[in-house]
Amino acid sequence: MKTALHVNASPRPATSQGYRLAGELRAALRLSWPRLEVLERDLAAMPLPPLSTDYAEALTRRTPPQAAVFTLSEALIGELEASDLLLINTPLHNFTLPAALKLWLDYVLRIGRTFASTAEGKRGLLADRPVYLLVGSGGHHRGPQARQPDFLTSYLRHALGTLGLFDLNFIYLEGLVGDPADVADTLASVREQLSREVPFRALANPVTATLE
Ligand SMILES: Cc1cc2nc3c(=O)[nH]c(=O)nc-3n(C[C@H](O)[C@H](O)[C@H](O)COP(=O)(O)O)c2cc1C
Repeated sequence: MKTALHVNASPRPATSQGYRLAGELRAALRLSWPRLEVLERDLAAMPLPPLSTDYAEALTRRTPPQAAVFTLSEALIGELEASDLLLINTPLHNFTLPAALKLWLDYVLRIGRTFASTAEGKRGLLADRPVYLLVGSGGHHRGPQARQPDFLTSYLRHALGTLGLFDLNFIYLEGLVGDPADVADTLASVREQLSREVPFRALANPVTATLE
């Protein structure tokens, strides 16, 4: 049996193109892996609480992982550890990742638990696995149409790498507030790109893939 963890970081999943595409990918994945279990961590439907004083204190004091203060952090790390594949859909918010996704990272990046501090720097303690990141943005941040910087990609590459996750696949859905015909073209080209990835081969006919 395979397990996929889907993290939704869009605050408006009902209308999010990234969330919808993640649903199509989940459906395609289920055709590749019939006994698939999907864990959904919806950061919009169930927002994580802000980091408490106790959590920040515990983190800097190297408190044992069994301590009650780490219950939520352990649950989130457990979802990551259980997954064979990680799927994240996230918007670009003010040139970087949304606060909800940063907060999730603050709960899963734990010294002595998911990364070790070594003489050479921080070293991830999680086993690597494929990570697909669907990044939606209203405007463009790559190529000749780019009118803004992208601080999301380099940050997520570094933060996820600190966990030990290096097999990162960034898929960009740019210009989502633009002309609907251009948006449709972008989605078609992204679907085509994704259908070439082994786990998502069934996406070749995306019309039949629906949200679960
Ligand atoms: C608070 C906020 C900040 C945003 N900042 C940017 C930005 O810096 N660059 C950009 O291109 N789009 C920006 N957008 C637009 C979103 O990235 C865009 O609407 C995207 O499609 C949202 O993805 P979603 O539908 O998956 O939530 C912003 C939207 C919000 C709500």
